[in-house]
Amino acid sequence: MSLIIRPETPTDYSAIKEVNDLAFGQPVEGKLVENLRKNPKFVPELSLVAEASGKIVGHILFFPIVIKSAAGKEKGTISLAPLAVRPEFQKQGIGHGLILEGLKACRQLGYDSVIVFGHPEYYPKLGFRPAGTWSIKDTFGAPAEAFMAMELKEGALEGASGVVELPEEFMGS
Ligand SMILES: CC(C)(COP(=O)(O)OP(=O)(O)OC[C@H]1O[C@@H](n2cnc3c(N)ncnc32)[C@H](O)[C@@H]1OP(=O)(O)O)[C@@H](O)C(=O)NCCC(=O)NCCS
Repeated sequence: MSLIIRPETPTDYSAIKEVNDLAFGQPVEGKLVENLRKNPKFVPELSLVAEASGKIVGHILFFPIVIKSAAGKEKGTISLAPLAVRPEFQKQGIGHGLILEGLKACRQLGYDSVIVFGHPEYYPKLGFRPAGTWSIKDTFGAPAEAFMAMELKEGALEGASGVVELPEEFMGS
């Protein structure tokens, strides 16, 4: 299977919604992507699709967020969510490919760290560690092992302790 991983274009929007709906088995994440796309902070270069024989089979989105310290200082970072692969294309390395290409694009755009809420068995293989390692907290009570972070530049999260602030689209509004 020849796979192309590239930034989304407007003609991909409906296929991206479909991939998310099918992968998650619900319309929540596809709608989240559509809502985030309307946010001025949305970075089209960080919404990547995996294309096989002209068909969109996977999608990943990175969205800029901040970690706010107790003193009110903000550290810019990026969240990885959602990540979706069409069910019949799963377990063929497409998810990993999307993450690795996405992390490369994040580095190129100057992001030095990434935050993810996700499967604790999946992301550590790619270098993610519990966000608590850096005393980074969330406000949603996610299980500690599912809330992870990774430095894209060594030491980037040192002293970044604080609370992750997500845009309101993530709260389903
Ligand atoms: C999670 C998901 C994106 C993985 O995509 P994928 O293309 O199947 O993943 P890859 O083929 O790159 O990686 C496969 C590896 O991940 C593991 N894996 C896949 N889904 C997993 C899950 N839900 N939990 C833990 N491990 C998982 C596989 O067992 C395999 O492990 P191995 O490399 O040791 O053999 C895909 O299963 C999916 O779309 N799931 C539904 C939506 C979802 O849960 N998204 C992620 C939210 S955090």
